[in-house]
Amino acid sequence: MTKAEPVIIIFACQWCAYQGADDAGNQKCFYLPKAYIIKVPCTGRVELEFIIEALKRGADGVLIGGCYLGDCHYRDGNQKAKMRITLLKRVLKDMGIEPERVQIEWISANEGKKFVKTVKEFALKIKNLEKIEKNE
Ligand code: FES
Repeated sequence: MTKAEPVIIIFACQWCAYQGADDAGNQKCFYLPKAYIIKVPCTGRVELEFIIEALKRGADGVLIGGCYLGDCHYRDGNQKAKMRITLLKRVLKDMGIEPERVQIEWISANEGKKFVKTVKEFALKIKNLEKIEKNE
């Protein structure tokens, strides 16, 4: 049986994606009832263990939202995050977990609509993965 809505954990940088989520809220945009945002100081602070733990604890997908490349408040935190996610995707694949369950996106503070679109598209991708998995 496919879950109605996937559980999505969003690690959102406090300077951009988190404020993008806030912007979406101010615009009264609806995204997903089962998307849970965790505010982080920078995407560079998101350890791979956090993502693996989220998946182990039942998240269907993990989205990391950060500042655009070149705009990180800690110089290259988002560059490091991007490299880590690339590495993690390879590890997940080796573990038999679809690498598509983890995604990193750049979303600025005034991009509430992009935040919503990104979350919705990511959730749809996860739902489709589960349909393929269950051969529906
Ligand atoms: Fe936003 Fe580094 S401060 S990604």
